[in-house]
Amino acid sequence: ELSPIDKAKYVAARRAVEFVEDGMRLGLGTGSTAAWMVRCLGELVREEGMMITGVATSTRTADLAREVGVTIKTLDEVRWLDLTIDGTDEYDPNLNLIKGGGGALLHEKVVATASDQMIVIADPTKQVDTLGAFPLPVEIIPFGWQTTKALIEEMLSNLDVLGRSASLRLSGTEPFRSDEGNYILDLHLRRIAQPAQLSLVLNQIPGVVENGLFLDICDVLVIGNADGTVEVRD
Ligand code: A5P
Repeated sequence: ELSPIDKAKYVAARRAVEFVEDGMRLGLGTGSTAAWMVRCLGELVREEGMMITGVATSTRTADLAREVGVTIKTLDEVRWLDLTIDGTDEYDPNLNLIKGGGGALLHEKVVATASDQMIVIADPTKQVDTLGAFPLPVEIIPFGWQTTKALIEEMLSNLDVLGRSASLRLSGTEPFRSDEGNYILDLHLRRIAQPAQLSLVLNQIPGVVENGLFLDICDVLVIGNADGTVEVRD
């Protein structure tokens, strides 16, 4: 028996895989919601003999996909994808997102951008009117990270946000490392009035690799509820 939150994630994932067709090249997201989607894909492969090629956005997702029988290739082998299905940390009424709570935002953004379509699976706890309640993850290179952090904080003082502090993400006592070996700063902004401007300015700072704002990338949002109902927005 699933907990209410897992039920919501599972029904969203199950609805999203209805968009998957035989022969598709799929981007596979990261996180607990995306993991349900990967398990549902495994069922399609094992029980319905569907042919699917997956490109994973993290080593965690790649491991799970292989375990449930989904073929994994690299993005360079496949080059372009028909569809990416991923979770999110926050979504707003325009289907803009904050992602990267799991630290996979860079590969997630590359994969989603290389896809004809992106479907995001979520539950209502992630809905906001304005992005920013969830700390915005920013992937930075380890070299000179404290300088990069200071540059980001200085830049934030000129922007329309409520909070302005950045914290280095840790894994125990060590800095967390992304699959690319980079660090992650979490920006506590509370309210991002102009996400497009913020995204552009962040990515212009030399030590910044990518930020967790996914703007105009999500095409379809599938929201699962604990009572088993699902809402599809596009
Ligand atoms: C991973 O880096 C994130 O972008 C995930 O998509 C996000 O953290 C969602 O995870 P859950 O489905 O576990 O909430």
